[in-house]
Amino acid sequence: MENKIISRIGVLTSGGDAPGMNAAIRAVVRAGIYYKLEVYGIYRGFEGLIQDSIKKLETKDVAYILERGGTFLKSARSEEFKTREGREKAFGNLQKHKIDAMVVIGGDGSLTGAHLLYEECGIPSIGIPGTIDNDLSGTDSTIGFDTACNTAIQAIDKIRNTASSHDRLFFVEVMGRDAGFIAINAGVGSGAAATLIPERRMPVENLIKRLNKRAEAKKMSNIVIVAEGGKSGGALEIAKKVKKILPQYDIKVTILGHLQRGGSPSSYDRFLASKLGVGAIEGLLQGKYDVMASVINSKVVYTPIKRAIIDDKTVDDDDFRIAKILST
Ligand code: F6P
Repeated sequence: MENKIISRIGVLTSGGDAPGMNAAIRAVVRAGIYYKLEVYGIYRGFEGLIQDSIKKLETKDVAYILERGGTFLKSARSEEFKTREGREKAFGNLQKHKIDAMVVIGGDGSLTGAHLLYEECGIPSIGIPGTIDNDLSGTDSTIGFDTACNTAIQAIDKIRNTASSHDRLFFVEVMGRDAGFIAINAGVGSGAAATLIPERRMPVENLIKRLNKRAEAKKMSNIVIVAEGGKSGGALEIAKKVKKILPQYDIKVTILGHLQRGGSPSSYDRFLASKLGVGAIEGLLQGKYDVMASVINSKVVYTPIKRAIIDDKTVDDDDFRIAKILST
């Protein structure tokens, strides 16, 4: 498609929220206004697009949101947008407001939505990777991942205090859907005895061996990080299996859950989000459609959305190896 003349841009956040989404919205709005565009905020993601929940945003509307977690535009996972009828309603509302390009901030489901807007309705659209899971290809990191890892590590540090006071074995479950990025990062960063991730099978017997070896070295308090989404089950299931084999251990389970999605974004996430907000607007103005703006080696690059959502980004073998070396 040749470059279109763009004067009105819509922005939405969709899927699971992530710290730094507000910083990205702010950057999209301010960069849009800088380039003399009108920017429209769409509330509650694609659901709000279908329901016509759309409002023009000015510079002052995005003041004091840079440092706030969550997304002031709110987010949703829209079932209706997955249907052709839903997408036609959404397209109708874009036409009604004369919105001629879209910036979509979210994970793989959200970027798929941006791709469909372009493919089916011809709306120039660009994605910004926003998810704590870090599971998109073609980007060094997704917005929110760094903050989520920091949150997880801070929580695990606290758990370690009580674990060591009581010589307990803690299983700590972290988020990531079916990817182990938060887990491996938190495992290395918190000095875990073991880290179980969906990408690598670790039989319970191997975990038992590791714990026995640590017991020989008089390491009686242990933290085991378990990523959600693993084939052997979550922290509760694994804790039960281990208790059967090692009944002498005092075992506790903590599921960190949604607290990993909240909180003020880290410096890294604020900078990344700000860079990508500007990058998305500049990409659209340069005719880069159906792509994801991302950062690789500190530079903004544009990756076709179809490439970004391919499920081939997995935890680096080296990172897994490092976690293993340091856990003995
Ligand atoms: O994709 C982000 C994420 O937090 C995943 O890590 C987790 O599996 C999922 O969303 C939880 O989704 P929900 O908030 O809809 O329960």
